[in-house]
Amino acid sequence: MPILYNELDRTFHLQTKESSYVMQIVNEGYLAHIYWGKQVKQARIPIALRYRDRGFSGNPNKEDRAFSLDTLPQEFPAYGNTDFRNPAIQLVCPDGSRITDFRYDSHSITKGKPNLEGLPATYVEDSDEAETLTITLKDDEIDVSVHLQYTVYHELDVLTRSVQIENNGTDAVTLSKIASMNVDMRDTDFEMINLPGAHVRERDIERLPLRRGTQSVSSTRGSSSHHQNPFIALVRPNTTEEVGEAYGFSFVYSGNFDATVEVDQTMQTRVNMGINSFDFSWLLEQGQTFQTPEVVMVYSATGIGEMSRTYHTLYRERLCRGNYRDKERPILINNWEATYFDFDEQSILNIAEKAKQTGIELFVLDDGWFGKRDDDTSSLGDWIVDTNKLPNGLASLANEVKEKGMQFGLWFEPEMISPDSDLYREHPDWCIHVPNRRRSESRNQLVLDFSREDVCKEITKRISTILESAPISYVKWDMNRNMTEMGSSLLPKHRQKEMAHRYMLGLYAVMEELTTRFPDILFESCSGGGGRFDPGMLYYMPQVWTSDNTDAISRLRIQYGTTLVYPVSSMGAHVSVVPNHQVGRVTPLKTRGDVAMDGNLGYELDVTKLADEELETISQQVTLYKSIRQTIQFGDLYRLVNPFEQQNYGSIHVSPDKTEAVLIYVHVLAEANGPFHSVKLAGLDPNKDYQIIETGEIYGGDELMHMGLNVPYPEADFTSILWRLKEHVQ
Ligand code: DGJ
Repeated sequence: MPILYNELDRTFHLQTKESSYVMQIVNEGYLAHIYWGKQVKQARIPIALRYRDRGFSGNPNKEDRAFSLDTLPQEFPAYGNTDFRNPAIQLVCPDGSRITDFRYDSHSITKGKPNLEGLPATYVEDSDEAETLTITLKDDEIDVSVHLQYTVYHELDVLTRSVQIENNGTDAVTLSKIASMNVDMRDTDFEMINLPGAHVRERDIERLPLRRGTQSVSSTRGSSSHHQNPFIALVRPNTTEEVGEAYGFSFVYSGNFDATVEVDQTMQTRVNMGINSFDFSWLLEQGQTFQTPEVVMVYSATGIGEMSRTYHTLYRERLCRGNYRDKERPILINNWEATYFDFDEQSILNIAEKAKQTGIELFVLDDGWFGKRDDDTSSLGDWIVDTNKLPNGLASLANEVKEKGMQFGLWFEPEMISPDSDLYREHPDWCIHVPNRRRSESRNQLVLDFSREDVCKEITKRISTILESAPISYVKWDMNRNMTEMGSSLLPKHRQKEMAHRYMLGLYAVMEELTTRFPDILFESCSGGGGRFDPGMLYYMPQVWTSDNTDAISRLRIQYGTTLVYPVSSMGAHVSVVPNHQVGRVTPLKTRGDVAMDGNLGYELDVTKLADEELETISQQVTLYKSIRQTIQFGDLYRLVNPFEQQNYGSIHVSPDKTEAVLIYVHVLAEANGPFHSVKLAGLDPNKDYQIIETGEIYGGDELMHMGLNVPYPEADFTSILWRLKEHVQ
């Protein structure tokens, strides 16, 4: 039984594969947090709470001066009655007051995991995979309940949390903050990891000790953003890739979010995560409920690497969905960096023809195929093929590509509208805007108001029409600006702050409909590269274009940071030309290939302009990748050398049965008379022997992991190796 309730001391004990999470109902019904960490068989009294009268921490019950919510570690703290820390919930009551007092009301334990209506979430395929605890806390004064939902997966160290709030009172209340989870850890010996970045420089890793007071990461951009990812981890100061405790918090949502960590006066650490309360409120009428998105919490006692692998397994197998979830992903070629907007039918077919000869499997036609889109100043929303560029239409092009033996894919940016478009001329109020104010453009475009049903319906129709019109096997779903002048012409003024979340609900509904209607299409999400690389998107689309930065050396950090949470199978990685278009760097084609093979390999260059030797190298890369992609995309990733800390980079992908592995190692800069480098491999079976296919050498897994492997001396900048290891049986 992974979820236990002990009536005697009113404790809940949630057991994941190797961790325990313990709560207790204390005092007059407050839900206290007791423990989260390495599994214990039984959660008994020694870890229960102590109480003490502390100055300036008030007492809900004046008879008990030792009890204050200000110091109690809690599961879902509210505002107004002695807790001065960051609350998980805040609402405006019918009488205008903002005080709530949620106490234990009831609980239930059920098999499986319920879906979250209208929201992306992890799931089970069989109700035996997980168990769910729902604890209901209630504020009797206003008759509002919060249902705290906790799901534990039996085979993983995962705990998912979300909250449903239900108004059974006689009047409406207004939510001004509703986190998806809160946990009050009982100490502060942590460092916080987060993934800040920018366009073309996504997901750097930042790791800083906690300080007293609050520290937070958030987005107010209307999307999860390039700038902060909806993920944080708390790790012990001594935690590394392979040892030490790591606590991960990942938010399954693609819009404005907030993760705040607060170290309080008694040196406890409060973490809460959810929809950003900045510019948010939600009117909850009588009888209505509000469902928060989910937070996936992962505990690892054996380092950051194990935390990541738990996320990878869960997200690959129980967040991603659809026909492509478990399928090897096709090697694609995309024409964006090859042609930008400047192409016609013949130039596209020429690229496809050459690409086919190298063994590439899918051709993707990027931006510029519709309306009058010869640059980024027009036509978003006019999803009608541009017959100047493609005189025979899309179906004819797609069929020709298909006849060459490749699949055909297409780019869309469904959420956007160009002021210079027929759609805008017809419906100028369909964009996000505030009447009488300037509509700020970004990349010459505005954002469609997906909080409106009519807008969602029309866009779904337009996209469906195109998808039905030609043999399209892949869609790249782009999104190239953040939201400003948040306002919707259909919402009444007291609901305008619901806009950002309503947008997400509308977007998710459109994605649900399109991915259900076209189950055979592989969808890849994108937002100027990795501006919406989040678990919410992965629920609908199992791949993401990781970054608009295709430089192999920049990609080392971007991909390394991304894998902290996201599985390799989700990371689009392309080989492009040199000098690189984003940073001007010149790197060998071999290194570009090896780095792209660390994710989902693709190409994004004009193959018709390459020399024969380069095409030959690409053919070899494609053949090689086909033989290793099962291990890369569905194996276990071990990060070996951290490019944020060292000049070099290393990773190894190990097949689940540990009979095969792929080692990728990149020397960034060569050094005159420099040192030799060796790397300790990980994830292998110490009792197996492995042959390195590229060198013929045979070593034990134990030797490779403990003694390490001497890698070749770097004779030049930007060199790499990709070595395959296969179990060697005498
Ligand atoms: C941004 C994407 O990230 C690029 O790959 C490309 O599709 C452009 N948009 C097209 O406008």
